[in-house]
Amino acid sequence: MAVGIFDSGLGGLTVLDAAQKSLPDVDFLYYGDNARAPYGVRDAEDVYQLTKNAVEDMWSKGCDLVILACNTASAAALRRLQEEGLPPGKRVLGVFVPLIETLTERQWGDNSPPREVTVKHVALFATPATVASRAFQRELAFRAIGVDVEAQACGGLVDAIEDGDMILAEALVRSHVDALLRKMPTPEAAILGCTHYPLMEAIFQDALGPNVKVYSQGNLVADSLGDYLTRHSDMFGAGTGGFYTTGDPARVSVHATQFLRREISFQAA
Ligand code: DGL
Repeated sequence: MAVGIFDSGLGGLTVLDAAQKSLPDVDFLYYGDNARAPYGVRDAEDVYQLTKNAVEDMWSKGCDLVILACNTASAAALRRLQEEGLPPGKRVLGVFVPLIETLTERQWGDNSPPREVTVKHVALFATPATVASRAFQRELAFRAIGVDVEAQACGGLVDAIEDGDMILAEALVRSHVDALLRKMPTPEAAILGCTHYPLMEAIFQDALGPNVKVYSQGNLVADSLGDYLTRHSDMFGAGTGGFYTTGDPARVSVHATQFLRREISFQAA
């Protein structure tokens, strides 16, 4: 079975791209709910229901393991899906864990008391729903002390990227970075807490300046998936992958091809 990568739209392609590069023998099934993106302006219940429907569709397409390559879905739906019980042999993972492990310099399962870490001032850029969930702050606070997180909800940015309007997307990145820097003038690190944002990583870095280390999730999630598949070889993807969308396959394919700079062909989910 192929490993499933899910996002509300095109953002999960940044995770898929890194995963394909580091795990060339794994087949991936990408699923974008482009017809309903953005998720980041929806309430938690809505995001949960949409994510659940998509994940069930991915299971029915043959995926045993689905990665929620979407922070908004990870924040609103992952824990609930796991607590409500998954069908036998099915697994769902999110994208927070590898990032939190990196920032807090410890493994997820390390339950020792929180301790000081290197970064003290962290800028978080995410969707309005992810910022409202406070999921990053909560997970950081369990593990690290003395970390000041300033969050900026980047309204409009996912829509601009989904529309392929990169001029608007750049203007929005610069104005959201300005707004963040007014609240926290000298962050040491910035988290791109939405998988769409690495498509604009160079602009974030330029606007933040060279002294800010920008963390995005592609490579971190790919490395963590590689470890997971080593430990769970039954989840190793084989079989039919591909690219599925709930949106217009032709339009989504054009934007995906433009972002990944290689031919990507979506079919209707
Ligand atoms: N890529 C999704 C995320 O990581 C975007 C959410 C949205 O559709 O607003 O949060």
